[in-house]
Amino acid sequence: MNDNIDLSPLCGVLDEYAAVKGSLITILQHTQDIYGYLPKEAIELISEHTGIATSEIMGVGTFYTQFRFEPVGKYLIMLCQGTACHVNGSELILQTIKDELGIDDGQTTEDGLFSLKCVACLGCCSLSPVMMVNEDTYGSLTPDKTKKILKELREAAV
Ligand code: FES
Repeated sequence: MNDNIDLSPLCGVLDEYAAVKGSLITILQHTQDIYGYLPKEAIELISEHTGIATSEIMGVGTFYTQFRFEPVGKYLIMLCQGTACHVNGSELILQTIKDELGIDDGQTTEDGLFSLKCVACLGCCSLSPVMMVNEDTYGSLTPDKTKKILKELREAAV
């Protein structure tokens, strides 16, 4: 997959920001907006244009949880594992998602539809247990409700 990456959109970003001091985070944000994650080739190009070592760019990217280094599925499920969600059964929801999709935390389904990521508090504890799918929040989850959501998402993707 990485072999087919078109780096031309990133060149425009680098033309604008590469010479601007302290703009690495901005460049990485634009890169992720373009590709959905930070491809290795993009990091190398950023390094060439900014003079910042790839190891340093990787270090910054790893520090900020918003950045990803692997492509994700059409639906990124972020399942909260914070205290309130844990107390209200997030483990059961995690198990339901694993059983339904056959993936573990950090993995993507073979059809590229779903990725699963366990995260810390999503900031809406009163709705616990909670998950976000892309920009949408789903609260008061039960195993049945979770299965229904996954089914609807799968159908909507067809
Ligand atoms: S603990 Fe899950 S939203 Fe806060």
